[in-house]
Amino acid sequence: MRFYVPTDIYVEKDCVKNHAQNLLAVGKRAFIMTGHSSAKKNGSLDDVIAVLDADHVPYQVFDQVEENPSTDTVGNAAQQAREFGADYIIGIGGGSAIDAAKAVALLLANPSVDADNLHKAPEKPLGHVPVVAVPTTCGTGSEATPVSIITNHKIHLKKSIPHRIFPALALVDGKYLASAKKTLIINTAVDALAHMVESILNVYSNTFNRMCPEYGLKLWGEFKDALLSNSPVDEGLYEKLMLTSTIAGMSIAHTSTAVPHGMSYDLTLHQGTPHGPAVGYFLAAYVEVCEKKVPEDVKHILALLGLKSTADFSEMLYKLIDKCKVSREMRDKFTAAMKVNRPKLDLVPGGITPEEVDFIYDKSFITE
Ligand SMILES: [Fe+2]
Repeated sequence: MRFYVPTDIYVEKDCVKNHAQNLLAVGKRAFIMTGHSSAKKNGSLDDVIAVLDADHVPYQVFDQVEENPSTDTVGNAAQQAREFGADYIIGIGGGSAIDAAKAVALLLANPSVDADNLHKAPEKPLGHVPVVAVPTTCGTGSEATPVSIITNHKIHLKKSIPHRIFPALALVDGKYLASAKKTLIINTAVDALAHMVESILNVYSNTFNRMCPEYGLKLWGEFKDALLSNSPVDEGLYEKLMLTSTIAGMSIAHTSTAVPHGMSYDLTLHQGTPHGPAVGYFLAAYVEVCEKKVPEDVKHILALLGLKSTADFSEMLYKLIDKCKVSREMRDKFTAAMKVNRPKLDLVPGGITPEEVDFIYDKSFITE
C-alpha cells in the first residue's frame, strides 16, 4: 500500500496572504491562468497579485481558460508563457483553470511536445515547471491530484492526459465561494461526492487510502442538508466545503475516478453538460450496481452520508441535480463507447457486465 500526495497543501481563511512566502518560493516569473471572470469577482486573483506585487515578482495573466479547456487553449497559453519567460504557473479557479495550468506547465518544460499530442502516452515520463493551485470551487480537487482533463475538439476527445502533474503548492480558502451561485456550489459538491464514492468503489481502494474518502464523506453528510435546502449556503460552511473537495481530490489521487466519470465525459462533450451533474447523473446507478458486489462498502458509504438506502442516495441526487434527458441515438452511442472503455470498466470491484453498463445508462437517463 502506498499513500502519495506530494503537494504542499494549506486550507484556511486568507490562505494566499498567510502563505505568501510559500508562493514566492516557487519561482521568479509567474504565468497566471484563470477563467474569464470568476477569479476577478471572488478576489482570488487580487490576493495572488498582491503577494507578487509586494515582492516585485513579474507576472502575466492569461484569463481565457474556458470550461473544459481545449488543446488549442493550452497550446496558445504555453506559447505566451514561453514568450514571457515564465518559470512557474499559477492556476486560479475551478478544475478547468487548474487542469489547464498543469498542461501548460508540461508544455512549457517540453517545447517539442505539441498541444494536440498531449493525450499520447510518452515514451518516458516528462518533466514540468511547478504549478501553484488556488481553487475557487468546491468540487474539482485538482489542487491535490496529478490529473489534468483536457479536450481535443479535433478528435472529439475529452479525457485526462497521461502525464501526472501534482501541483507543488495548493492554497485553499473557502472565502472564494462567497460570490458563487448556489447551483455552482451544488454542482461542484456533487463532483466531490463522486470522487469519494468512486474512490471507495474501486479496485485500487485499500485501508490506507480510504482514510481520505471516509473522512470526506462524513463531512459531506454534515453539509448535505444545506445543499438540499432552498436557502443560500451559510458562509460558515465555505471552509468545510473546500476542505471536503480537497480531501476528495486526495482520494482520487490514489485510485483515480471510476465508471461515472468515464461516462460523464461524452455527455459533457456532446451535450455541454457541466461536469458535476454529468458525473452525478450516473452515480446512484453505479452505487446500486456495486451494492451487489461490495455490499459492505456501499453500506458504509451510505452510513457516512447519513443515508439509509441506495434509494435515499438516488433521491438526494435527484433533488440536487434532477435527471438527464438524452436522445435514444445519443444513449446508444454513449453506451457502445463505454462498453469498450476498459481502463474505467476494469476499476469496478468484482467486474461489470455489458448488461450492467446498460442498466446504469437506463437508470440515469430519461430517453426521448
Ligand atoms: Fe470530477
